[in-house]
Amino acid sequence: MKVIVPLQGVVQQGTWGLFLGSVIPCALLYFLQFYFKTRHRNAHTPPPTDSNNNLPLPELSALSRTLSPRIRGSTASAYVSGRVNSIIVDSPYYVGLNLVADNPYHRIHNPDGVIQLGLAQNTLCVDLIQEWIRHTGSAAILETQSNCGCLSITDLATYHGFMDFEVVVAGFMSQVLEKPVFFNPSHMVLTAGAISAIEILSFCLADNGNVFLVPTPHSPGFDEAVKWRTGVDIVYVPCRSADDFNLSITALDQAFNQAKKRSQKVRGVIISNPSNPAGKLLNRETLLDLLDFAREKNIHIISNEIFAGSAYRNEEFVSMAEIMEAEDHDRDRVHIVFDLANELYVPSFNVGVIYSYNENVVSASKKLAKFSPVSAPTQQLLITMISDTGFIQELIKTNKLRLHKMHNAFVAGLEQLGIECTRSKGGFCCWADMSKFIRSYNEKGELELWDRLLNLAKINVTPGSSCHSIEPGWFRFCFTTLTEKDIPVVMERLGRISETTS
Ligand SMILES: *[C@@H]1O[C@H](CO)[C@@H](O)[C@H](O)[C@H]1NC(C)=O
Repeated sequence: MKVIVPLQGVVQQGTWGLFLGSVIPCALLYFLQFYFKTRHRNAHTPPPTDSNNNLPLPELSALSRTLSPRIRGSTASAYVSGRVNSIIVDSPYYVGLNLVADNPYHRIHNPDGVIQLGLAQNTLCVDLIQEWIRHTGSAAILETQSNCGCLSITDLATYHGFMDFEVVVAGFMSQVLEKPVFFNPSHMVLTAGAISAIEILSFCLADNGNVFLVPTPHSPGFDEAVKWRTGVDIVYVPCRSADDFNLSITALDQAFNQAKKRSQKVRGVIISNPSNPAGKLLNRETLLDLLDFAREKNIHIISNEIFAGSAYRNEEFVSMAEIMEAEDHDRDRVHIVFDLANELYVPSFNVGVIYSYNENVVSASKKLAKFSPVSAPTQQLLITMISDTGFIQELIKTNKLRLHKMHNAFVAGLEQLGIECTRSKGGFCCWADMSKFIRSYNEKGELELWDRLLNLAKINVTPGSSCHSIEPGWFRFCFTTLTEKDIPVVMERLGRISETTS
């Protein structure tokens, strides 16, 4: 088994790391402030006298403007928060996305551009959606209840979704799961994208400094959703290639105990089903074990089911919602996230769903959704689209076929180059073992290969380290923004890299 301990050390930063991490920046900041204050005093006009202090504020500022015209050339840059300083550092994930944005591949117009394989979004059925919008879309947005044929700008915005919208989405989710699961619209909060849904839940379930257990490899988006604004942290729980990246409750239990030893308060576990990038499904037994685990530790479960409708091997996808139908106690620790944009294959619509059994969480989430609301025209359009059952049935069926076909074609292409993937059962990505192409078996070697893929082969993929994988050399390839004609181009470019390595 290949386990890289140094990487894990960085990933599972202990109390000491946290301590240093907070003390050093504070000390630096204090020192800098002191330094600039002294400089200011020496360089500029004397401090205002008492009589100045009695002036009302606007007059004071006008006065100081006339008195000291030279203050403007200050050398200190404007203060931004420490949070911002950590956010603006670009990870490989963003470097790749930016390169694609600057130079996107197009078969005819830009055949030397960078090919996008870094976004877990599905555009395989965009043609069908476009056609529907062309025929029905404008009527859907323009027709309001008063039937005046104009966009109803007199409607007041609701921040968490129109009641009508919640009702049709509830019905639609049962359709997606292809099972008679009942969704109660009053448990539902609609947000601008699933990432907001995860952030809102993190905010509701944990306080600053608390942690969630998150199995890895996981989507690079989790770090942002959970950590950036909430001050909540993640304890990474590695799933390994030797276990076929299956989730292990024993590993969760160990991570829980280690966190406790470090005096971290664990508030919950965030599972992804199907997982991203490995595409694994959690079966019924594992979900029940997870519930037992959460009960025993008195923590929450966020079940991230944003790829619920994309299980493509005819294997049973079991939603946590289904398990909850049979469970009548302890429901208030279970929260599910769906991605309506994923289920309708229109990533640009950006609609996420919180489905929570906890009344307090629902009611707080409805208020918090004010910071990431779904616009009214989007809601109106989707209400009409989802209510068109004939169209939706056809859409779901066609997507399943296209998704399965693309997956098979892509995996076959990789296999011809000697690249193995995990046997994924859902989602929009392949999780591929490229370790034989890396020159040193560590994160540096992995990032060096990632750089060659991006800058020489012009393929944007996500390196495993961005997904907190502890085994170097794994890469996430998202294939659902390609067309079938692009696959040979991707393989030809990958072939160039594999030849230069071996
Ligand atoms: C992973 O889990 C699946 C069931 O979900 C099981 O069939 C498979 O054998 C497991 N693989 C390993 C290596 O444990």
